[in-house]
Amino acid sequence: MQGERIPIGEVTLNVVIRGEGEPVLLAHGFPLDHSMWEAQINVLAAEGYQVIAPDLRGFGESDPATDKTTMAQFADDLSRLLAKLNVTQPVTFCGLSMGGYIAWQFFQRHRTRLARLILCDTRANDDDEKVARGRLVMAAEVERFGVAKVPSTMVPKLLSPISFEKNAAVVQSLEAMILRQDPAGVAAAQRGMAERENVVHLLPTIDVPTLVICGEADSITPPDVMQEIAAAIADSQYVEIAGAGHMAPMERSVEVNTAILNFLKTS
Ligand code: MLT
Repeated sequence: MQGERIPIGEVTLNVVIRGEGEPVLLAHGFPLDHSMWEAQINVLAAEGYQVIAPDLRGFGESDPATDKTTMAQFADDLSRLLAKLNVTQPVTFCGLSMGGYIAWQFFQRHRTRLARLILCDTRANDDDEKVARGRLVMAAEVERFGVAKVPSTMVPKLLSPISFEKNAAVVQSLEAMILRQDPAGVAAAQRGMAERENVVHLLPTIDVPTLVICGEADSITPPDVMQEIAAAIADSQYVEIAGAGHMAPMERSVEVNTAILNFLKTS
């Protein structure tokens, strides 16, 4: 989808903006870009929302990242983006996986800009030592060899077995999305995720209506992990998406859009 180049200070972001109405900010997962939300953007815009879907710093057609991008930096970028767009109305922040890690920071750092949260296939705990170390290894590898080998290791984990076997369009779209990412941006985000904080203690303080969405076959952030998140947030709803894995909004877009629109219209 055609985006606009929006300078937000030290970097310029590529941002797709569609529709008019209450703002909904879509934060993509790793190592992806705004196009993972393609099946949500026009549907939400047609239902009367202003959809703002940026490529995060270092991803898609946004400016490159250097060394390390922390989840706090991503959240601050998004707050600066809203200021630049003159969006003063608090937003519904919808983040998938890494987008969810950014949502926790957005809640802590920019609470006045937040009306609601939608957390898709994400987690609140930090990495154990082994996972964090693996991220640093991957960061060094993509810097050295590029992203060519990333789809074959990641795509089978990102999708449910049924999507991986039967949904060639989603498989191809994910592969192509990963292959067009800048290795420096991928490495920077991995280093940032490796040192992200555990925010489990924060969940009971979340005081905005929250929708928690999880693919029933998500092997990266499984349903029990996301049910715990929903149970710890007072004003929350949990929706499990049958047949979907970690990329529920791409794999089962109709069901995810229905859940999002029900939530937006009733909360
Ligand atoms: C994502 O989908 O954003 C990733 O699974 C996040 C992660 O690597 O923890």
